[in-house]
Amino acid sequence: MVNKLSKGPSGSQKFSRTLVTAALPYANGPIHLGHLAGAYLPADIYVRYMRLKRDDVIFICGSDEHGVAVTITAEKEGLSPQQIVDRYHAMNKESFEKFGMTFDNYSRTTLPVHHQTGQEFFLELYRQNVLVEKSEKQLYCENDRMFLADRYVEGTCPVCGNPEARGDQCEKCGTWLEQTQLINPKCKLCGTTPVVRETKHWYFPLGKFQKELEEYVNSKEWKENVRGYIDSWLKEGLEDRAITRDLHWGIPVPLQGYENKVIYVWFEAVLGYISSTKELGLKRQDKDLWKRYWQDDTTRYIAFIGKDNIVFHTLIFPAILMGWNKGGKSRYVLPDTVPANEFLNFEGKKFSKSRGWGIDLKDFIGVFPPDTLRYALALNLPESRDSDFYWKDFQARVNNELADTLGNFVNRTLQFVQRYYDGKVPPTKTTEELDRWALGQMKDIPAKVGALFDEFKFRDGVVEAMSLARAANKYFNDSEPWRTRRENPDQCATTINICVQLTRALAVLLSPVIPFAAEDIWEMLALEGSAADAGWDTIPKPAVESGKQIGQLKILFSKIEDSTIEEQIRNTASGEETQEKAVAPTTAPLKPTVSIDDFRKIDLRVAKIIDCEKVAKSEKLLRIEVQIGSETRQIIAGISKHYAPESLVGKDVIVVANLAPAKLMGLESNGMLLAASSEDGKLSLLTTFSGIDSGSIVR
Ligand code: MF3
Ligand code: ZN
Repeated sequence: MVNKLSKGPSGSQKFSRTLVTAALPYANGPIHLGHLAGAYLPADIYVRYMRLKRDDVIFICGSDEHGVAVTITAEKEGLSPQQIVDRYHAMNKESFEKFGMTFDNYSRTTLPVHHQTGQEFFLELYRQNVLVEKSEKQLYCENDRMFLADRYVEGTCPVCGNPEARGDQCEKCGTWLEQTQLINPKCKLCGTTPVVRETKHWYFPLGKFQKELEEYVNSKEWKENVRGYIDSWLKEGLEDRAITRDLHWGIPVPLQGYENKVIYVWFEAVLGYISSTKELGLKRQDKDLWKRYWQDDTTRYIAFIGKDNIVFHTLIFPAILMGWNKGGKSRYVLPDTVPANEFLNFEGKKFSKSRGWGIDLKDFIGVFPPDTLRYALALNLPESRDSDFYWKDFQARVNNELADTLGNFVNRTLQFVQRYYDGKVPPTKTTEELDRWALGQMKDIPAKVGALFDEFKFRDGVVEAMSLARAANKYFNDSEPWRTRRENPDQCATTINICVQLTRALAVLLSPVIPFAAEDIWEMLALEGSAADAGWDTIPKPAVESGKQIGQLKILFSKIEDSTIEEQIRNTASGEETQEKAVAPTTAPLKPTVSIDDFRKIDLRVAKIIDCEKVAKSEKLLRIEVQIGSETRQIIAGISKHYAPESLVGKDVIVVANLAPAKLMGLESNGMLLAASSEDGKLSLLTTFSGIDSGSIVR
C-alpha cells in the first residue's frame, strides 16, 4: 500500500497513517445530542475529510460496557448488567449507523479480546513493579453492606463544589477523584452516610509519571480549552489512584487474593481502543493490522472526546502507555492530539437523562433526516465553550440554509439542465469576469475549509463550506440565465455548465458534513462512484463533462413546518414533567431474577428476641440478642427509630442466619433481621403468622 505522507500540525514530524478514536460510550442508555456534539460528529467529519484526502485512516469506537454506570442502570431496571449492555450496545450501534457514523469498527469491552488486553496491560505494569498495592480506607455502606465504588457514592467535589460529584470523578470540572476526597458523601443506593473501612487495592502511581507527562504535554499542540484543564491538574500535582474495585462486573483482576475484585473501568476502557482495533484486524483477516496503527511511530493518533473525559485521555491513558513502553516489549504511540469539546446544552439547560431533559438520537432521526441534525450540530459545536441546541435555531438552519440556499441552488441548476438542455450538461463557451469569479470561489473555498478542518475548527469549516453554496446562488442570480437563454445562449450555456461544476464541488465539499445529501446530488448528476470517495483535490476542478446526461431529480431538503417544531418543543417539556413525576415511584423496581439455588443459599430462621437495648451514642442502632434454636447470638440492627427496645423482647422475628459477621460501631453483628420498608420511611419487622419454635427454617 502506498501511503501519502501528511504533515501533522504537531511540529515537523511526518506521519504515514492516522488512527482516530472516539470515546467509547457507556452502554447504559441511548446516545443523545450532547454526545454527538462532544465527540462523534466532529470525529466523523474529520475522518470523512481524511478519507477524501486519501489518507490512510481508521476510525475506532465501541461500547464501554463495564463499570458502575452499567450496574446502577441494571439495578434500577431490575435486569442483569449483561441484559443492559446487550440492549444499549445494539441500540447505539444502530442509531450511530443511521446518523451516518462511519466507524471502521464498533466493538464491545465485554468481548474476550478486550478482557485479554485489559489483563495483559495490568499484568505487565504489575510485573514491572509500576503498580503499588495498598490497604486504604474506602467508603462502605453498612446498610447495603458493600463498598461504594465510583458512582455508588456521591458528594461535593473538593475542587469545584459541584454537589453531585461521583466517587471517582467530578463530571462538572472533570477532576479525577479518590472517593475519600468527597465532601459529605452519601450512598447512591440508600442515601445514608457511608463509613470508612479498610480494603486492599492496586494503585497506579500517576505522580511518578508527572515529569514525563509534562514533557509529553508540552511537546504537543492542544486546543486551548484542553490545555487549560491539563495545566490545572498538573499544577495540582498528580497522585496515586486505585485501579481495582470491590465489584463483580468488569474485568477480573488477574492476581491471587483478588478474586472478588475487578479492574477499574477507566483503566481498561481506554484500552478498548486497542482491542477494538485488534477485532477489526481479525474481521479483515489482517492479524497485525492493530500493530501498524498502534505500534508504529509514523502513526498519528487523534482521540476525539467530550470534556469530562479529558484527564483520562491526556494524562492517564498516556501514562498507562508510557508504563507499558518502559517494559521494552513493544512501544505504543501516544495521542498526538485530543480535540475535546465542551458541553452542548439543550434549550438552555444541561442534558439530563434522569430529569428527562434533551432528546435521544434515536428519537431525533425517527422524525428528521440525519443530515439536518449533522448540519445544525456542526454549526453549533461546543468547540471552545459550552453551546446550546434550540429547536427554533435548528428549524431556521434547515429552512434557510439547507433548503433555501443549498437545496435551491442545486434544484434550480439541475432543473435548468433538464428543461432547456434535454438533461445534458451544456458546454462552456465564453468566460466572462463573473464566470471566472465563480470558478475562483470553487478553487479558494475548499482550501480554506481544509485548513480549518485540519485544525479541528469544524464550525468555521462548515460556515466556510456553506459560503460556496451562497456564492453559487449569487452567481446564478447575477448571471440571469433565464434572460441570457434567449439573448445570449453561449453565455447561458457557460453559466449552467459552471453551476453544474459548482453542484458537484458542493457535494464533495459538504460530504463530510451532510453525507446523505451529498450522495443524493451525486445520483442526480449520475456520476460514477460516490461523493465520499471522489477525492478532496477534485473539488476545485470542473470535473463534469459537457454533454453528460444527468439523472432523475429529487428534493434535497424539505422545509420544516412550524407545527412540527412546536410539537417537538412540547414533547421536550412534557418529557421533563413525566420524569419529575416519576422521581418518587411508589414501588422500587424489582431486582434481577435469581435461581432457586441462589435463593437456597440464604439460611432464613425464626428467632426469638430475648434481650434488646439501644447502642450507646447511636441514633439508629439497637443491640438485639436472639435465640435461634439452642443458639444465642447478637445482632445489631438499624431500627431504633421504629421500635422501643422493651417492645421487642419476646417477639418472634425472621433472621438471615448465615450472613457473614460484620462490625457496627465496634459491636459484632451475627445476622440480620428481616423487615419491610417503604419509600416514605415506614418500617415493619417480619414475624411468623402463628407461633412456631425458634430455629425453624423459613423457605
Ligand atoms: N464511557 C465513557 C463515557 O461515556 C467514555 C469512555 S472513553 C474510553 O464518558 F476511552 F475510556 F473508552
Ligand atoms: Zn468538580
